[in-house]
Order: sequence, then structure tokens, then C-alpha cells
Amino acid sequence: MKVLVLGSGAREHALVTGLAADPGVDALYAAPGNPGMAQECEVRSVAMTDPEAVVALARELAVDLVVIGPEAPLVAGVGNALREAGVAVFGPDAAAAELEGSKAFAKEIMEAAGVPTSQSVTATSLAECEEAFDRFGAPHVVKADGLAAGKGVVVTSDRDEALAHARACLAEADRVVIEDFLDGPEVSLFVLCDGTTTVPLAPAQDFKRALNGDEGPNTGGMGAYTPLPWAPEGLVEDVIAQVAQPVVDEMARRGTPFVGLLYCGLALTKNGIEVIEFNARFGDPETQAVLQRLTSPLGTVLHAAATGELAQLPPLEWADKSAVTVVMAAENYPADPATGDVITGIEQANALEDVHVFHAGTSTAEDGELTTSGGRVLSVTALGADLADARARAYEAVGLIRWRGEHHRTDIAQLAEENRITIPQGGSR
Ligand code: GLY
Repeated sequence: MKVLVLGSGAREHALVTGLAADPGVDALYAAPGNPGMAQECEVRSVAMTDPEAVVALARELAVDLVVIGPEAPLVAGVGNALREAGVAVFGPDAAAAELEGSKAFAKEIMEAAGVPTSQSVTATSLAECEEAFDRFGAPHVVKADGLAAGKGVVVTSDRDEALAHARACLAEADRVVIEDFLDGPEVSLFVLCDGTTTVPLAPAQDFKRALNGDEGPNTGGMGAYTPLPWAPEGLVEDVIAQVAQPVVDEMARRGTPFVGLLYCGLALTKNGIEVIEFNARFGDPETQAVLQRLTSPLGTVLHAAATGELAQLPPLEWADKSAVTVVMAAENYPADPATGDVITGIEQANALEDVHVFHAGTSTAEDGELTTSGGRVLSVTALGADLADARARAYEAVGLIRWRGEHHRTDIAQLAEENRITIPQGGSR
């Protein structure tokens, strides 16, 4: 099978690494890729959100499968164009990607499908926002309606900050979503979908704030781990039954089947599972951890989803290990990341057993040196016998890598390792 991966981040690097390990994948390409992916496959340039350009590249390479990493090409209709051209594609059409592209649409689908989620108001004026803040109380949750690379959400008890974000969202679009805050630990469950059948991957948890202790600004994600030793028994089955399958059924009923990865962002509240958000693609950085544990052949699995054959797939197999990912970020990320700093130590880190360093914001300078070129620069992932072992390996690897101004959280997976995560009890359903 020949496979093309679209994207240039650590998530796509992890997909490339997973696909390269599948003996059924005999040719692998990434576009536009990054220097890390270039060590594992042929990298081509492409304007990722230009459907015609992607179709032309897929035809030139004669690939059997295109795996779309980020959300922007999905919302731009790259999935539609590839399907129309007869190319199997892992990633939904634009209409189904609206589950991520529009928070208001996602709420509408959840209501129609009877999926538990927070109460919300889609406001078109600041006065409506103020009313919703009064109704729901603090902390206030304010979500931009369109794509915002995970940074369109502000959760704050500071009403002025919430109003300022609402104002900024209303200036960008004509609506903003205000939600009731969901109290309880968060879970990311990735679900493979072929339009009809759903197959869950292993649940993970990510860390969205920049600083230890979930302090500081929201980011694209500073780390992740899997599995979740604290998760209640039957969690995955419950999410499939209460969330993923009803949504996939509702999308099919509307004539916009969901084919690809349904990212269920959940809170385990005192009232049970509640949906915080959906994404229409693999999560970053959870993917880097989750795929490290998957031992089933990734190309075969994604191809089955793309071609409506998930029901025929044997059960997925997983290494009986834990995985921890630590994101290493550039100076001033997320506000205004510095670029051009020389990175050292990746080879030494990769030489450690069960450690993989996935590239995101890296570039090769003219003199051949690897430099920073984005906010989240690297995702350092380690497998271990348990979370404590995986954490220790991941942080040992992080300690070998350096550049000016580098920063990372030191508490990824720490509460889980110390068995300090609890689910609120005593709800009404
Ligand atoms: N981990 C958050 C996201 O992928 O959007």
C-alpha cells in the first residue's frame, strides 16, 4: 500500500512513524512534512488546504490512501476532492468536519443525537454573553465558533477576561459560544469511524495550559499520557454507546457520514460523561502517546476506516505499557514564539530505549543545523512498564535536548502516577 500523510506537526510525524512500521505499507510520503518526517519517508511540498493541489499530488504518487492530519484541509474540502477523484482518504468531508469547524453545529448534532454535553448559548451580542455569564456562573467558558487550532477557548473566573475574549470572537465571526463549566477530569477518546462502524483507540489525557499545575495560558497542548489508570471500568464502552455511535448515526442520517477520526473531548463530571468538544482529526499531542502503544498495523487500520471496512477488522492490539509525551516549546510560546534557535541532543534522546522524538516546529537551516521554527517544537514520547517508568524515560530524554529559551511542563502525568485524580460524585443522573 502507498500512503500519503498530509501535515507538518508532531502528530503527523507520529502517524508517519506508525505507518512506516506497518509491513503492508511499501511506500510512504508526507506533505509538506518536516525534518523529522524526512528521516522516515519522502517529503513533498504541497499547499495543504488546496484540494486540487492535494489531488494532483495523490495522483502523481499513485497512493492508495491519504491520511489527513490537521483540521484546516478537512474544513477546506480536501477530503471531498480526494474522494471525488477516487482516492481512499482517512478524514471526513467538509460537511462532517463541521463537528470541529463549528462549535454551534456540534451542539446541534449533540442535541439531535441525545449526547450529554454542557448547557450552552450561541450568542450574537455582548449583552447575550453577559446574560449567559449570569445564568451559568463562574468559571466562564467562551469558545470561538470557528477553527482556532485549540486556542479559541478561554476558561476563566475573571469576567472581564471572559468578556474581552467574547468581544474578540464576535469581531472575528458573528457568534460566540458560552458554556456552563464542566467540572471533572478530562479524557480524550479517539474513535475510528467509517461512516457506520466505530472502533475506539485507547483513552488519553492531555494538558492544555502552558504551565505546571494547569496554570498559564491555553496552548495547543503541552503533553499527554495513556492509558488512564484512574478511569472507571467500562468508560470506553460507555463513550461509544452514549457519544460516538449516536453522533456517527446522526451524521449518516443527515447524509453527511463521518469517515475518519472522531476526537471525543470529554469531562467525567458528577453527572457522568459530558462532551466538551469534538474534533474531526487525531489530537495533538495525545496521538504521539496513543500510537506508541498500538501494535496493530496502522496502515491497514486507517485504510479499513477509509473504505468502510472497520466491521471486518480484527480487534485492535495494544502493548501492555504506558506512554507519556512531553512537549518542548520555544521561548515565549504561546504568545509570540521565538524562532531560529539551534536544537541539540535529539540523537542522544532517540538513542534511549523506547523513546521517540517527534518533530513539529523544526527547520533545517542553510548550514544544515536544526533550528526552531514554531511554538511547539518537539514531542518527546516514551513507553514504560507503567506511568512512573514512562514519565522517568520521557523526562530523561527531555533533559538531553536543548535550545535557547526552551520550556516544558514538568508535571505531565504526575497526578495520575501519584493516584491523585478523582471523579466528582453525587450528581443527579
Ligand atoms: N489535544 C487537543 C487537540 O488536539 O485539539
